[in-house]
Amino acid sequence: MQITQHTFFPTRVITIQFPETDALNTQLCELLDHRPELDDKFNTEPDAMNLLRLASTVPAIAQLRTMFMTAASRWLEAEGIRGVTGMDLLLFTNRMAPGDSTTVHNHRADLVGIYYARTATNSQAPIQTTDGADYFDAGDGVLLLHDPRFNANLTAVCERDHVKVFPRPGLMLVFPAYLWHSVTPHRGNFHRVAWSMNFTLRWPAGPEEFQPLP
Ligand SMILES: [Fe+2]
Repeated sequence: MQITQHTFFPTRVITIQFPETDALNTQLCELLDHRPELDDKFNTEPDAMNLLRLASTVPAIAQLRTMFMTAASRWLEAEGIRGVTGMDLLLFTNRMAPGDSTTVHNHRADLVGIYYARTATNSQAPIQTTDGADYFDAGDGVLLLHDPRFNANLTAVCERDHVKVFPRPGLMLVFPAYLWHSVTPHRGNFHRVAWSMNFTLRWPAGPEEFQPLP
């Protein structure tokens, strides 16, 4: 008898904890605190308001763009993806008032990046994958990554159908845009601030042929 085990189709998620981000986070939060109209929370459309237009005048946004590019490059490198000629970037924010949450969604892009500038205080490790963890324990502004396989939770008594991310300032994540995710209610008496980036990969141009619709 020969038994072989496989784990096919894993989903790569990269986390980076950037050091010494206090000054950066202060600037990123103050920008939204003073101009809350810049926050569009759930914008995942390619023509959405792109806060990268402020990069030339707000150094914190230019710095954040560099950090996102570093993280996305690491993700591509880890996946062994080569030949990308560039990326279209879309930067937006999610400024959550006390009690706010975000329902399950994915993004119309190739990759998604999230950077936390202001969150609840979390002392545990940023990633919790422990079997038996209570899926319905909402916590405080916890990012839930859901198994992208449809109805994966119905596989026997599978308890590995989600991962919890306990955010903290300076933490960045990059993962495929198809990965369903949500945020549990923010309980603190302040605005929780996360910045998100949609990455759409550019590839070398192929043969030009355009077929108009009949
Ligand atoms: Fe999202």
